[in-house]
Amino acid sequence: MTEYRITGGRRLSGTVEIHGAKNSVLPILAATLLAGGECCVHNCPDLTDVAASIAILEHLGCRVVREGDSVTVDSRCVLRSDVPDELMREMRSSVIFLGAILARTGEGTISYPGGCELGPRPIDLHLKALRQLGARVEERGGTLRCTAPELTGCEISLSIPSVGATENAVLAACGARGVTTIGNAAREPEIVDLQNFLRALGARVRGAGSSVITVEGGVPLHGGEYRVMGDRIVAATYLSATAAAGGEVELTGVDSRHLATVAAALYEGGCAVASGMDRVSIRAGGRLRGLRPVRTAPYPGFPTDAQAILMAAQCTAEGTTVFVENMFESRYRHVDELARMGADIRVEGRVAVVYGVPRLHGARLRCTDLRGGAALVVAALGAEGESAVTGLEHIRRGYARLEQDLAALGADIRVRDT
Ligand code: UD1
Repeated sequence: MTEYRITGGRRLSGTVEIHGAKNSVLPILAATLLAGGECCVHNCPDLTDVAASIAILEHLGCRVVREGDSVTVDSRCVLRSDVPDELMREMRSSVIFLGAILARTGEGTISYPGGCELGPRPIDLHLKALRQLGARVEERGGTLRCTAPELTGCEISLSIPSVGATENAVLAACGARGVTTIGNAAREPEIVDLQNFLRALGARVRGAGSSVITVEGGVPLHGGEYRVMGDRIVAATYLSATAAAGGEVELTGVDSRHLATVAAALYEGGCAVASGMDRVSIRAGGRLRGLRPVRTAPYPGFPTDAQAILMAAQCTAEGTTVFVENMFESRYRHVDELARMGADIRVEGRVAVVYGVPRLHGARLRCTDLRGGAALVVAALGAEGESAVTGLEHIRRGYARLEQDLAALGADIRVRDT
């Protein structure tokens, strides 16, 4: 088993290049199934979720070659249409492959993704959208079988702007005859990235980034080359780490507009945040201040994926910060771990009240989920003394170089085999 050993209290300084966005890469890799040629995707981070996506593509019959941060997918001879249970379990968001598999082969079989560490993860909106496009969906014994010899464009209106359901609908609509409009679509930047990739393959998709997306389906797609955008949540993590530990850090390779709400919160907390087009920098020193309530919401609201990370920094703020988690039911599992370090946090339902304490102390900590794990690292960097963080498999799902990047910024973080 490996763990991080982190000694807190070191100021961070320097520049770090942010790697490609996990939540863009996954749907983009699924979208390569629609291309009638070779796709080369650059800035693909080395993450376990990316490896799981590649394993799914290979299982389906694609030829995949990874060279550094570039992944080339040749999907010309797709032979299968099922995602085996073990691959579904490895990455619950593999449900985004369903729309692409269906569009490509006219059928698709996956196992039901079930619940996960954030609570129930329903896929009813994904299935409703696919049904509206003409798919027949049968659920039996935890297996979902979809068939659609022909998909037909239609009007889809999502009751919640779900990121995954929007992506699935866009991917399936690319293979449908006629025009599909998706109303109340999620507006996350990763959906714009998916649209841009699809356009590079010749698809006619527009409107991503707004709440109405239009897809003119049935257009034959070709291969193409694309560079994935920088990961805004990784950037939010490094900004929060600097806020917690103090220092002066510049992040490159990330669109600062995607970080507006996180940057605004850190500014309110007393940090100096400056934004350029593809970079953002932060200067922090002294204690942070408590913030007005932080409410997670669909983009452009405050991202649920940054909730735990910002909370970790706010644990030692002067004053109180209220967090309201509106996106997922059980997204406060990191709170008990932060309490081990001396944090004073009360949770009631969707609300967490963080009473700032002067300092946190090092402790033995266990990652409970991907972003909750990153939050423990942020807290440990600002704490007094040494922390040991286990459960790093969660972190590897979304951070390709966490310890290397933080060490390069001057953090005392080491990986130890126990
Ligand atoms: C994506 C992100 C995840 C992020 C989340 C919210 C990926 C791979 N993951 O997840 O990091 O935390 O967006 O920004 O991109 N819902 C339903 N029925 C459905 C689908 C969703 O009720 O069929 C609900 C969910 O339970 C949740 C809300 O809608 O409460 C938003 O979820 P959604 O946007 O779908 O999140 P994901 O796409 O799973």
